Amino acid sequence: MENNIPVCLNFLNPNWVHTVLELCDRNDKAHQRDHIFTVLKEAQAILQDNPELDKHWRFHVLTAVLVHDSCCWMDRKNHHVLGAGFFLEAFEQEEVFNDYFAPAFLKAGALVIAQAVLEHRASWTGTRISPVSQAVAAADRGIPNYTKYLRRAVEYRIGRLKEGTVMTTVLRDQIIEESLNHVLDKFGSEGYAWKNYPFEYYRYKNEVKGIITVIESKAGRDQLRDYAKLEFDTWL
Ligand SMILES: [Fe+2]
Ligand SMILES: [Fe+2]
Repeated sequence: MENNIPVCLNFLNPNWVHTVLELCDRNDKAHQRDHIFTVLKEAQAILQDNPELDKHWRFHVLTAVLVHDSCCWMDRKNHHVLGAGFFLEAFEQEEVFNDYFAPAFLKAGALVIAQAVLEHRASWTGTRISPVSQAVAAADRGIPNYTKYLRRAVEYRIGRLKEGTVMTTVLRDQIIEESLNHVLDKFGSEGYAWKNYPFEYYRYKNEVKGIITVIESKAGRDQLRDYAKLEFDTWL
């Protein structure tokens, strides 16, 4: 596990960064420090592509990314609310920024960061009110991966089976078919996944178009079905 603090966070107090990363390591495997580092890389690419955002909001974006999943381990469902509160409390009570940056950081800036933490989730249905919220949510989404969506849909349905259910070929095929329909409902051109998607700074708009083409075509669906049948046993 990497213990070094990413250079892009050198405006923060290193002790506080360690504290936050250690909190993240209490999360489920998908939300530990490696995830934070991945999102930080994506956020830096977004900042590089958008000089105005970089100029005005760089430190807000990077701080919000560091904090965004720090409270998953407490309560996954409310981790966005808890994370926003956690940051505001830390800002009031601890040395979040290093000595050089601290005097320049006003409470208003801290509120923008907390708001971005609050609004980072894919399930967020409200508006994302600032460019910081847009950028953090876009960085957190990352590269879309439809095989992963399909696997998750299948795993969810397997998880809901009554204990002792015997897996037959018919049941397997039914689960795969339902999962393919779910993926189409969620990620097709009219899919609800895209309704509040943070497209403003999202770097993978073409990949999204590609996914939609695949899951809406017969050939694409056939391919996905074959893939699911091949992998099914590893998802049990
Ligand atoms: Fe999250
Ligand atoms: Fe995340």
